[in-house]
Amino acid sequence: PLIAVLNGPNLNMLGLRQPDVYGHATLDDLEQVCLQAAERLDVTIDFRQTNIEGELVTWIQECRGRADGIVINPAAYSHTSIALLDALLAVGLPTVEVHISNVFRRETFRHHSYVSRAAIGVMAGFGVRGYALALQALTDMIEDEDQ
Ligand code: DQA
Repeated sequence: PLIAVLNGPNLNMLGLRQPDVYGHATLDDLEQVCLQAAERLDVTIDFRQTNIEGELVTWIQECRGRADGIVINPAAYSHTSIALLDALLAVGLPTVEVHISNVFRRETFRHHSYVSRAAIGVMAGFGVRGYALALQALTDMIEDEDQ
């Protein structure tokens, strides 16, 4: 299986950005966490980050017919983007939403995510480990579906 791991705005600043909230791991460290999980789970990942909303929309669309599932941290666009929601609904692939921080402990504007409506589930608050957990949950569900 191929799983797209898509990351939104400001996640290129991981490690530098509010380490009290997001930890000290960099985007490269995060990619390593995902690659290790992928190896363990025997899946291939396509790991990407962009600060541009439209680029995320295009990447989601390109998953159609190519990927088996999506792990996405839409970052701030979670809270604002109907375009991302629509793109995910359009491709209809099993999707897990990830947030490094526990968004529910934070400002109320972070409590709502448009993207969640298109997700099987949401992993929030487990730091970069959440991506490994998301990959595991998604792989389990894809394999169940195949049976
Ligand atoms: C985030 C949470 C969002 O509210 C925030 O805008 C981010 C990162 C997280 O991973 O915890 O940029 O998605």
